[in-house]
Amino acid sequence: MRFTHSLPATEENLASSEARRKPRTVFKRYVAVDGDVVVAYCKCERWPVHEPVRFIIGVAVEPEYRHQGLGAELYRLAEEVGFNEEAEQLWAQTAEHDKESEAFLERRGYTINFFLRSLTIVLKDFDASPFEDILAEVKSSGIRFIPFCDFEDSEENRRRLYDIHATVERDVPNLGEDHFEPFNDWARKTFDSPWYDAAGQILAVDGDRWIGIGAVGQFAQGIHLNMITGVLREYRGRRIGMALKLLGIEFAKSKGGTEIQSQNHENNAAMLAINQKLGYRLQPGWNFWHRTIKQPSHVE
Ligand SMILES: CC(C)(COP(=O)(O)OP(=O)(O)OC[C@H]1O[C@@H](n2cnc3c(N)ncnc32)[C@H](O)[C@@H]1OP(=O)(O)O)[C@@H](O)C(=O)NCCC(=O)NCCS
Repeated sequence: MRFTHSLPATEENLASSEARRKPRTVFKRYVAVDGDVVVAYCKCERWPVHEPVRFIIGVAVEPEYRHQGLGAELYRLAEEVGFNEEAEQLWAQTAEHDKESEAFLERRGYTINFFLRSLTIVLKDFDASPFEDILAEVKSSGIRFIPFCDFEDSEENRRRLYDIHATVERDVPNLGEDHFEPFNDWARKTFDSPWYDAAGQILAVDGDRWIGIGAVGQFAQGIHLNMITGVLREYRGRRIGMALKLLGIEFAKSKGGTEIQSQNHENNAAMLAINQKLGYRLQPGWNFWHRTIKQPSHVE
């Protein structure tokens, strides 16, 4: 089981994400070793929302060490971490078509919660000419597009950037029912991360009001990811979302990127429509699984 949106597991990236983790957050890993070689690992991590008390579990075993009980034992250890912390919900993730991992989770009481599509554009093949009018049209309606790097990097502006992210994230299907993380947690994970580039935080602005965000970050050499594209509800249907995606593609190209990837919930009709129009190609996606341990305390 791997995780989406993850930087390649280099020593540098792992150290960086350790440094940015919320202090005192439960995050535990176990490894299985053969001699001094790590052949399997698991992790159990508290999801950064206050409620429900959710833990993400991941288990991976090198192919030649499978079917020897390592995965089951590591899973048991990971689950125990969650149980000891009074987990209300466990989440796990499997790659589309990975029937073996699916059966592993089904036997442990998980059901599929949602499916995340992965999509990609090979940047050298992207032809912007059919979309040229869109940016011009949106701009002529008075909307300006300004990267965050053009604003002063002040606490006030960082909070404004947080506000537009938090506002649009609420409407992302499935994850939208979660409370968005507090500013300090978000800021630590964003501004200090290897993928963050203030030029890739592209704002749509009406007068002085920030009304949309297209955030793009580089996750691996040449591989950029659309982290989030969102437009305030009252500004939707004016092709601002489409314009933000186009600018994201332009940004990735300007950085010498080879690919730009996107991940969308299967029921996010608006975003899937935009991606289809732009020519993003479907890739194998991810199933998200959940298991409820007990009724969350805030539910009657
Ligand atoms: C997704 C989102 C950014 C779209 O922004 P938007 O500015 O309203 O979208 P646009 O006006 O640019 O739409 C572009 C095209 O998609 C089509 N489209 C938009 N919503 C659609 C829907 N619900 N169903 C089908 N097509 C849709 C439009 O018809 C338009 O096509 P056209 O150019 O041929 O007319 C916006 O709905 C949003 O902020 N959602 C919440 C955040 C979110 O879920 N982000 C994606 C997470 S990965």
